Amino acid sequence: MKVLLQKNDVHEVEFVDMTHDAKGVCKIDGFPVFVKDALKGEKALIRVVKVNKNFAFGRLVEIKEESPFRKIPICEHFSTCGGCDTMHMSYEMQLSFKRHRVKETLRKIAHVEPQIQRTIGMENPFYYRNKAIIPFEKRKGRVMAGFYKNRTREVVDLKRCHIIPKSFSEIVRYLKGHFQNRGISVYDEETQDGCVRAVMLRQSLAYDEIALTLVLAESRLPYKDELVEGLLKRFPNIVSIVKNVNAKNAGSLIEGKSRTIYGKDLLRDRLSGFEYRIAHKSFYQVNPLQTARLYKEAMRLAKPGPEDVVVDAYCGVGTMTLPFAQRAGRVIGIESVKEAVKNAQENADENDIDNVEFLQGDAAEVIQKLEHERIDTLIVDPPRKGCEKAFLQAVMAMEIPRIVYVSCNVSTLARDANILSGAGYEVKEAVPVDMFPQTSHIETVMLLEKQ
Ligand SMILES: C[S@@+](CC[C@H](N)C(=O)[O-])C[C@H]1O[C@@H](n2cnc3c(N)ncnc32)[C@H](O)[C@@H]1O
Repeated sequence: MKVLLQKNDVHEVEFVDMTHDAKGVCKIDGFPVFVKDALKGEKALIRVVKVNKNFAFGRLVEIKEESPFRKIPICEHFSTCGGCDTMHMSYEMQLSFKRHRVKETLRKIAHVEPQIQRTIGMENPFYYRNKAIIPFEKRKGRVMAGFYKNRTREVVDLKRCHIIPKSFSEIVRYLKGHFQNRGISVYDEETQDGCVRAVMLRQSLAYDEIALTLVLAESRLPYKDELVEGLLKRFPNIVSIVKNVNAKNAGSLIEGKSRTIYGKDLLRDRLSGFEYRIAHKSFYQVNPLQTARLYKEAMRLAKPGPEDVVVDAYCGVGTMTLPFAQRAGRVIGIESVKEAVKNAQENADENDIDNVEFLQGDAAEVIQKLEHERIDTLIVDPPRKGCEKAFLQAVMAMEIPRIVYVSCNVSTLARDANILSGAGYEVKEAVPVDMFPQTSHIETVMLLEKQ
């Protein structure tokens, strides 16, 4: 296609679709242009800002005809912060946008058109996250903290965030004040100098308790005792403070050595009637109200019988394993993180569930050790990159009759569904569950059955 677009040109356009990350899609002489904050159905003047070989990016200049689903974002940081990208849509539109994305992605990548349920939404789609990792930055002598600006490592100094608990914003403000007043250095990724990097906050909704992990680039934190004392006085529901030392720029921020400096390295929570202990390195779903609904859907699709053997691969601290164990004959959880496996076993004991076992290791390796077991249902809930090919190959060779795939990334879900459908699995049904309101992230639970 010959590109006729020029950078800085202004065009009048109509938006005909949305991208996976909620940009409006319009076409100029058949050439697709993606525009942030534009909504399907709107007419607008746009300025072309970047032209690539097969598509271009534009910026809104003026909206001529507004979508009836457009909303004024409640957050003052919306246009700069990379945290939320659908706050300009009504919640109704966010839910139908997600269902449409699941449908289209499965159709285009997996070549399947299963029944797709309506997205299960929240009554109040704000302040829902029970976890946040907030980096610090020092600019012109001022300590700042907040999520990164879209596609940068530049912190947007947050006054208040509308998807995390209000207490998290207050704790971050307290930490910023302390680091500023005490002249504590903030880590700079370029020079690799400085001490404080980020804070991870986790909240237990059931017990209203908070676990705080400070990520540092060096192990000595000046004025540590004063900070701990001040935090506990101001926020008495903090039950755990962990110091995590990580001087590496690459990889996950919560890596390296950690030391508990107050309380235990554990947060307790209650979910769908089960008690859980979660260490700071263990995965735990970020939206507890929707997690209960997600697991209910997984259970509805899996329909475990009392004699069934279920494998819960990528099981975390066992939050799906235990409810399944109540219905099935036996459940085997697989998880790579050592701390999470320890939590999962403790959680089973605490909830008096004894028909489970947890195997630690890479899911692709561990599943192969189960090749002689009878497995009726496999639950998979991998990270964003989806299942490893070797894992899927083992599953296909074992001919497990039913798979319930829980996914936080519809692209890798569709890629894996394509592989599985090539081996005779039929995609029966998919249910999007809105775990991440105000963002374009989509959680889906899907049923596949071996034909
Ligand atoms: C999206 S979480 C799901 C956890 C759990 N099902 C839940 O609902 O809380 C993915 C989990 O897979 C684990 N994980 C990541 N890669 C893995 C691998 N290669 N093998 C086994 N587990 C892995 C992570 O540590 C994490 O606990």
